[in-house]
Amino acid sequence: MDLGLKGKVVLVAAASKGLGRAMAEEFAREGAKVAMCSREQDAIRAAASEIAKATGAETIPIVADLSSAKGCETFVSSALEKLGRIDVLVVNAGGPPPGRFEELTEETWDKAYQLTLQSAVRLTRLALPELKKTKGNILYSTSTSVRQPTQYLNLILSNALRAAVHGMLKTLSKDLAKDGIRVNAIQPGRIKTDRIVQLDTDTAKRTGKSLEEVQKEWETSGVIPLGRYGDPKEFAAAAVFLASERASYITGVSLQVDGGMLQAMF
Ligand SMILES: NC(=O)c1ccc[n+]([C@@H]2O[C@H](COP(=O)([O-])OP(=O)(O)OC[C@H]3O[C@@H](n4cnc5c(N)ncnc54)[C@H](OP(=O)(O)O)[C@@H]3O)[C@@H](O)[C@H]2O)c1
Repeated sequence: MDLGLKGKVVLVAAASKGLGRAMAEEFAREGAKVAMCSREQDAIRAAASEIAKATGAETIPIVADLSSAKGCETFVSSALEKLGRIDVLVVNAGGPPPGRFEELTEETWDKAYQLTLQSAVRLTRLALPELKKTKGNILYSTSTSVRQPTQYLNLILSNALRAAVHGMLKTLSKDLAKDGIRVNAIQPGRIKTDRIVQLDTDTAKRTGKSLEEVQKEWETSGVIPLGRYGDPKEFAAAAVFLASERASYITGVSLQVDGGMLQAMF
């Protein structure tokens, strides 16, 4: 299937590794030009050049901290300056730290708010005028924990703030449809990246188990019906489809990529 992404300009936020990087690579494989950012200059440059080498696509590395207004502006304006248009905005960022409610301070909540909700608001606001010109689309990469937070008791920051992102996306999908702009979300369950290792290490510390024991429990307890963590490439394939022309009648949707983990009907 031709996804219709050849020559399109895609911005993938937080893309030096993990899910962002996998999405950037998959868009590049489809022939899109990809602007990608992260905080670490060496890391984002290396990721962009490896992807360009592997796919032949044009990739633009941008150093930007998405937890600040300035960082979001740098990402969108540099991408626009280099590539001239925006067809797809993929909103992604590092995850807020784990911790239960009583362990979290005012400052930790503030930082998580900037990183998780405000980065989504700012990137959307900055890209919108361009997306209106191209009738492009926005994809928010969030988490299945928005729909079933109870199994992630130590991720209250993520659960609370990503729910706000979903409120925004559902509202925007209706509001922006008149401009021909689609707005969707993709929700990872447990996709094998450094972030998941960080969370499993936190669980291991809290429960007195080893990291291997924690991972084995996830894979064998039946919580993930497919019985394994996902590969970032599997996540990226779904993301790229949702952002492609082949998904032209899909908007306001949250697609979980979780090996069957969510138990809700919808
Ligand atoms: N993996 C999963 O299964 C899963 C499940 C649910 C939710 N999520 C969420 O999905 C997001 C991505 O997860 P991941 O697994 O891909 O994590 P990851 O492997 O740790 O990668 C995070 C990426 O974000 C960049 N980043 C972090 N903070 C940033 C900031 N302030 N500004 C710009 N870039 C930043 C990092 O690069 P630099 O360090 O260079 O900035 C890196 O490229 C996170 O929010 C995570 O909580 C993931």
